[in-house]
Amino acid sequence: MFVVLLGPPGAGKGTQAQRIAVATKLVHISTGDMFRENVKNETELGKLAKTYMDRGDLVPDEVTIKMLLERIGRDDARAGAMFDGFPRNVVQAQALDEALAAQGGRIDHALLISVRDDELIARLGGRWICRNCGKLYHERNDPPKAEGVCDACGGELYQRDDDKADVVAARLEKQKPPVALIDHYRTAGVLTEIDGERSLDAVTASLLEALG
Ligand code: AP5
Repeated sequence: MFVVLLGPPGAGKGTQAQRIAVATKLVHISTGDMFRENVKNETELGKLAKTYMDRGDLVPDEVTIKMLLERIGRDDARAGAMFDGFPRNVVQAQALDEALAAQGGRIDHALLISVRDDELIARLGGRWICRNCGKLYHERNDPPKAEGVCDACGGELYQRDDDKADVVAARLEKQKPPVALIDHYRTAGVLTEIDGERSLDAVTASLLEALG
C-alpha cells in the first residue's frame, strides 16, 4: 500500500505518520526529514536545500524528485510506503505516479489533513523535536514528561530554525497544498479529507479508518 499525507505546514503530517507507521508497519518517508539530515551532515544537497528552507521556499522539483526516487528504489519501500511532505505539486505527484507504476504500484490513498492558519501558527511555534529519534512534541498539546527530554529515548529536544515566526509566515503563504494537487488525487478517486483540528488520537483514528 502506498499512501501520501497532504496538508499545510504544521497540520500534523509528521506526528500522524509516526503513529500510523507504528500501527501499520508502513515505511515512513519524509522529504523534510531527509533534507534536515543532509543539512545536519553538511552534504552538498543539504547546503543547497538550506538556502530554500531558511526562506520558507520549496526546494526545486528536480532536486527533490531525484532524492525521493532514490529513496523509493530501496528494498524497504518496494512493497509500500507512506509519504509525508511529498508530493507538494502536480509535477512531483506525476513523478511519483510514474515511478510507482514502473514497479507495478500506485497511490492507494491520499489523506488531506486540514487545519486553520491560526492553529497552524500555534502548533509550529510550540513544536519540539527529539534530536536523537525525531519524535515530535508540542509544549502545550503534547508535552514531554520532563522538559527538554524525549520520553522515548532520553534525547535532547530542539526547535527547528524554520519554525521562527517570519519563516512560518512564508511557509504558510507558499507551501499549502495547491488545488491542482488536491484535484489530482480527487480525480484518481483516492482522496480523503480529514479534519485535523481535533485531538491527536481522534485524527489518528480517522486516518486509520480511511486506510481501512
Ligand atoms: P517538512 O518538514 O515537510 O515541513 P512541512 O510540510 O512544513 O511540515 P511540518 O513538518 O512543519 O509540519 P507537519 O504537518 O509534519 O506537523 P507536525 O506533525 O510536526 O519540510 C521542511 C522543508 O523542506 C520545506 O519548507 C521545504 O523547504 C523542504 N521540503 C520538504 N519536502 C519538500 C518537497 N516535497 N518539495 C520541495 N521542498 C520540500 O505537527 C506540528 C506540531 O503540532 C507538533 O508540535 C505536534 O505535536 C502538534 N500537533 C500535531 N497534531 C496535533 C493535534 N491534532 N492537536 C494538537 N497539536 C498537534
